[in-house]
Amino acid sequence: MAYRFVTDREDYRDLASGQVLLSAPGQPAFPVRLVSEIFQRARALLGNPAAVSLYDPCCGSGYHLAVLGFLHREALSSLTASDIAHSAAQLATRNLSLLTAQGLDQRRQAIAVDWQAFGKPSHQAALASADRLMAHLAEAPALPTRVFVADATQPGQIAAHLDHPVDLVLSDLPYGQLTAWQGERKNEQPIWHLLEQLRPVLHGHSVVALATTKGDVVAHENFARYGRFRLGKRLITFLKPISE
Ligand SMILES: C[S@@+](CC[C@H](N)C(=O)[O-])C[C@H]1O[C@@H](n2cnc3c(N)ncnc32)[C@H](O)[C@@H]1O
Repeated sequence: MAYRFVTDREDYRDLASGQVLLSAPGQPAFPVRLVSEIFQRARALLGNPAAVSLYDPCCGSGYHLAVLGFLHREALSSLTASDIAHSAAQLATRNLSLLTAQGLDQRRQAIAVDWQAFGKPSHQAALASADRLMAHLAEAPALPTRVFVADATQPGQIAAHLDHPVDLVLSDLPYGQLTAWQGERKNEQPIWHLLEQLRPVLHGHSVVALATTKGDVVAHENFARYGRFRLGKRLITFLKPISE
């Protein structure tokens, strides 16, 4: 797969999972270069130069949303995240709080305590990363973020929390190794049900980008596919709602 947007390999060490941004066992960290590429492709498909609202209905630790918040702050108007698991939503809240000076400063202080206590080179490196991210944050106003708990396949749970249509949905769906589909519909075409529940919170130009495994069927009669690509074990599919 040829990268169209992130054509150069960039140094993403400051965004490494577990460095400043938090990770959790069982929560796979999505590759930074790939999520930036997907975001920029989806935004190009949207065809609107204005900043976009972004939603992830299977947010996990919120790692890739926080990464996009740091990398593409100027292209975002808000970040919304949800997950069926309370523990994931709590971790996503902490990761998205790193997009504020106060949240990042609190994280830096926690790393500084570890550095004092254990003196590991990794702590020193994390402090340097936190300082660079803080300098980056200072360049732009804080990004509105929101996290809630919802079974994305259950009728009305997403729509109950979102009062405005979202421009972009970008989600790294459960794929059965570290994370599996949960909820009543976990064995009944969960991706179809996810798209069914997303439709009411989209507008006519919204774009949905889903990362799945190659074997997953990513389809719904009310959505048209606008391209897809494979990278390693992942399949990335871009969809738009079919106007009623
Ligand atoms: C692959 S992980 C996402 C990891 C995320 N990209 C990150 O940056 O941490 C998939 C997530 O989907 C969640 N999930 C599973 N079934 C769900 C459902 N029915 N509704 C919402 N979230 C669900 C899991 O709890 C898991 O956190």
